[in-house]
Amino acid sequence: MGAKILKATQEAIAAAASLIRGGEVVAFPTETVYGLGADCFNPRAVAKIFEVKERPHFDPLIVHIAQKEGWRELASSGDRRVEALTERFWPGPLTLVLPKREVVPDIVTSGLPTVAVRMPSHPVALALIKEAKTPIAAPSANLFGRLSPTSAEEVAEQLKERIPLILDGGRCPVGVESTIISLLEDPPRLLRPGGVPVEEIEMTIGEGVKKESSSSTAPQSPGQLPSHYAPRTPLRLLEERCEAPQGVRAGLLAFTPPEGDLGYAAVEVLSERGDLVEAAYRLFSALRRLDRSGVEVIYAERVPEVGLGRAIMDRLRKAANKFEGDWG
Ligand code: TXA
Ligand code: MG
Repeated sequence: MGAKILKATQEAIAAAASLIRGGEVVAFPTETVYGLGADCFNPRAVAKIFEVKERPHFDPLIVHIAQKEGWRELASSGDRRVEALTERFWPGPLTLVLPKREVVPDIVTSGLPTVAVRMPSHPVALALIKEAKTPIAAPSANLFGRLSPTSAEEVAEQLKERIPLILDGGRCPVGVESTIISLLEDPPRLLRPGGVPVEEIEMTIGEGVKKESSSSTAPQSPGQLPSHYAPRTPLRLLEERCEAPQGVRAGLLAFTPPEGDLGYAAVEVLSERGDLVEAAYRLFSALRRLDRSGVEVIYAERVPEVGLGRAIMDRLRKAANKFEGDWG
């Protein structure tokens, strides 16, 4: 097929919206990562998302809306925390899991009685949803289990031959996926750390959020699968900064700039000044460059696990997990 990559002008957004109304899937920018969207009320269109991504059907999708109150069409909840959270964080990188209404097709939620909803803040995403006149079901626009794209070029690398259109809105300003909170439990549970720090969520609702993953064997949020978000190159988490190992071409994913040459074949620095927001923004593209640099192993430094640092460490652990057993 060969996707058109169009700068996200009004005209291009209108073209994307009409593809969505016609049951097609298109890639579009959000403030977190690029999404692969379809009309959430059209099960055939939603099925194409799974096909394009080669995504297992048990992995449910987030539905994107363009108005704060839009969740009421998709979910029913009398929980006062919904109001507090949407008031404070929408539009923005927070996804709420709520009891679903009948109108939401099972393919969107993988048969779960719940639906994940978020109102993105990216102006292109909002314009697209409004123009399409339907909520848009969208996962990140990557092949299943691979790094989420934060630019139109990165979407094209993985999906160009599989979709008709990629809306180019430049680089995503947040750079990691949304924070997912389930309001079906009391207290609420963090299903995935992301762009909104969980500490801020706790302040807003005035109570703690469960952070350990749930004990049930089926993951509630398959983003919790241990091998998500992985580059191709094996990744190891470093306990602390150290020199490159002998006898292997190694890359370093550094949080802050290393002093002097540590002997790595390639080095990516997440933030010159140790800023976690900037580090999150750069994480996926830095991993991608290391992946392409021809190193045999990537050593990743830890970052402080506060604020956006939780999301960064979550993704690094998942990337490391994929290759457990392959290395040392
Ligand atoms: O920032 C984001 O959230 C991006 C942009 C495009 O909005 N989307 C994204 O979607 O990361 P995806 O599909 O790659 O990750 C969504 C996660 C999955 O791990 C999925 O299992 C979980 O949300 N999820 C969706 N619906 C759920 C539900 N009803 N209950 C629990 N988890 C759910
Ligand atoms: Mg994803």
